Amino acid sequence: MVLITGASSGIGKTTADYLMKKGFHIYGTSRKALGNIEVNEASDALTGGFLRMIPMDVTNEESVDNAINTVIEKEGHIDVLVCNAGAGIAGSVEDVSMEEARTQFDINFFGTLRVIKAVLPLMRDQGYGKIIAVSSVAGVISIPYQAHYSSSKYAVEGLAEALRYEVAPFGIKVCLVEPGDTKTGFTKSRITAQKANRESPYYERFTRSLARMEKDEQNGASPISVARVIYKMIKKKNPPVRTTVGLQYKTILFLKKILPGSILEKVVGLLYN
Ligand SMILES: NC(=O)c1ccc[n+]([C@@H]2O[C@H](COP(=O)([O-])OP(=O)(O)OC[C@H]3O[C@@H](n4cnc5c(N)ncnc54)[C@H](OP(=O)(O)O)[C@@H]3O)[C@@H](O)[C@H]2O)c1
Repeated sequence: MVLITGASSGIGKTTADYLMKKGFHIYGTSRKALGNIEVNEASDALTGGFLRMIPMDVTNEESVDNAINTVIEKEGHIDVLVCNAGAGIAGSVEDVSMEEARTQFDINFFGTLRVIKAVLPLMRDQGYGKIIAVSSVAGVISIPYQAHYSSSKYAVEGLAEALRYEVAPFGIKVCLVEPGDTKTGFTKSRITAQKANRESPYYERFTRSLARMEKDEQNGASPISVARVIYKMIKKKNPPVRTTVGLQYKTILFLKKILPGSILEKVVGLLYN
């Protein structure tokens, strides 16, 4: 039984469909799902897999607890949790307000943390479980005008690395999946900082950089490439701490390790600033 947060669109939806077709029993979450799971159900007659959508807002603790309790009541166990729900806020560090920065962290970092904390007692009791956190290449390399998005994903990486040690004695495995640019609803859902307007001293550079980001995402990989990696991590007995999606991004992150920082900074600056 796999629980996937943010399964109404993009990577989460594609992963839920992919796993259902492989015969998995999936509970997917969305802020928009109706409470009635019978209405929100799809199944695969061939494999016996099903996908049930339930409501969850990862920024609301009560909503997270209700969703987890619903799954426990219906299934009695959760084998795999995929923390996928997320969104991006764009703008220069100076233009993004403190409130906007908090919102970014509330969805991507605290949202992931809330769901993990709600699932851990059950997984500990079970004596097994797997937690897969969808991070990003931006969780390893930060690019201009999405500092808060990157920071929230760096934080998810730090959380997962430490949690891995803590829960290993209870039979729980933790790993990170790092997609690069992927063609999903993420681009359209991105929030732009209110102050990132014509009055901003960053406006021209920000606008150019955002256009580049959006173009890269919309020409990016299909979400199925991420779904396949998540499936691999589910099947693996001992998944590695992090897996980057796609050869191109694996190469970029390898270069980050071996190149002097100044060279990488030049390349990122040329592309995004
Ligand atoms: N697309 C990319 O290029 C890319 C690259 C690297 C990493 N990622 C990561 O991949 C993950 C999935 O993003 P995506 O690209 O598939 O974007 P997407 O198509 O916009 O899907 C985002 C999902 O997250 C859910 N969500 C957003 N805010 C939520 C909230 N407060 N509570 C609960 N659910 C919420 C949405 O569900 P509802 O709106 O229905 O609630 C939706 O199902 C994110 O963590 C993102 O950071 C994306």
